[in-house]
Amino acid sequence: MTAALAPIPNDFESFWMPFTPNRAFKRRPRLFARAKDMHYTTADGRTVIDGAAGLWCTNAGHNRDPIVAAIKRQAEELDYVPAFQFAHPKSFELASRIAALAPCDLNRVFFCNSGSEAVDTALKIALAYHNVRGEGTRTRLIGRERGYHGVGFGGIAVGGIVANRKMFGPALGGVDHLPATYNREQQAFTKGEPDWGAHLADELERIVALHDASTIAAVIVEPMAGSTGVLPPPKGYLQRLRAICDRHGLLLIFDEVITGFGRLGSAFAAERYGVTPDMIVFAKGITSGSVPMGGVIARDGIYQAFMRGPEHVIELFHGYTYSAHPLACAAGLATLDVYRDEDLFARAKKLEPFFAATAMTLKDLPNVLDIRTVGLAAGIDLASRPDAAGLRAYEVMERGFHEQNVMMRIAGDSLALSPPLIASEAQISEIFDKVGRAIRAAG
Ligand SMILES: Cc1ncc(COP(=O)(O)O)c(C=O)c1O
Repeated sequence: MTAALAPIPNDFESFWMPFTPNRAFKRRPRLFARAKDMHYTTADGRTVIDGAAGLWCTNAGHNRDPIVAAIKRQAEELDYVPAFQFAHPKSFELASRIAALAPCDLNRVFFCNSGSEAVDTALKIALAYHNVRGEGTRTRLIGRERGYHGVGFGGIAVGGIVANRKMFGPALGGVDHLPATYNREQQAFTKGEPDWGAHLADELERIVALHDASTIAAVIVEPMAGSTGVLPPPKGYLQRLRAICDRHGLLLIFDEVITGFGRLGSAFAAERYGVTPDMIVFAKGITSGSVPMGGVIARDGIYQAFMRGPEHVIELFHGYTYSAHPLACAAGLATLDVYRDEDLFARAKKLEPFFAATAMTLKDLPNVLDIRTVGLAAGIDLASRPDAAGLRAYEVMERGFHEQNVMMRIAGDSLALSPPLIASEAQISEIFDKVGRAIRAAG
């Protein structure tokens, strides 16, 4: 083992870790001290390949020089400007750059600091939009089973992960859910979008018939559900949702916190699927994880609906102290430059067949029930240990970190792999090879 690169904390107790089994972690911690490009360095000096782009966010790779330099420059030049009633030039520049990447007339960008805030922002804009147009009865929100939309009360209400909801009361009222799009019998070991399942979008018609369109504001879905194990949309599913929303005047929101900025081989999944939503929620990849930032891109007509009344009066009573923070905007601009200069979205598209084929080499390993791939994302379902749901995947992750020097993401008994878009073919092979060894070792 090489010399320690960073002091190891001698007290793990104070930090109440998010989405982590605290006692298990603190008994056997997994600490990273440095990162560069495709790799982390642990606190005790080991090099670990990043199979998860951090948490689906470091799409440009870690600590990229142009992004680091931009953040440093910005910190010296201008630390903070309120986004309420004042602004700084880079906020407008970044909004324009994001709008240029988004399809059609999705050209109005509202900045937040995380995916959760961005989801709540989109839901609030949807409600307010109907309100300002005189359709204030449209208050109902439709999410989907197995959807993840962050941890705000709005996000957990429309989300479809039981554990994220059951301890927190009713959250928002007036929410309904589409069925999940995954069916193992019909879809197992599919590369890309499965053939089966477009008809599940028609469930929206049933929900509309139940509540009446005049009570429904919006439908929110992840084009590809990432956090519950990489569930690509069935072929034609998103198109059907769009058509039903159009028929009934419902806004369609794509939560692209994971799929945005190249994960599926295009700037947004909306482009890959040729479906234009009314709003896109983004976060993560906008700064390649370097500074917290999220936001909502709205269609022009949504923004225009608010631009009425006396000009000195605020049109939307919503925002955050750190909306369009100068460090985040500088990081975002530098990140978009890296994506453009290195053509990383096209790179992800080109790598997709190799990535999918490599992921599928794990197909016959013990306890592997299904593998799904789309873009540079793969979900691997493992059989649960009897009476210990989630334990097998947890052990695979632990062994991956401690024994194989690979970092992966887990959700229940699923593994998720989503490397930075700069990954070489050799590194993709290395990641799946190491994950395969960890699966075998966990038994
Ligand atoms: C689709 C989706 N929406 C929202 C979020 C929440 O983002 P954050 O953790 O930045 O609040 C996530 C996070 O993984 C996500 O995957």
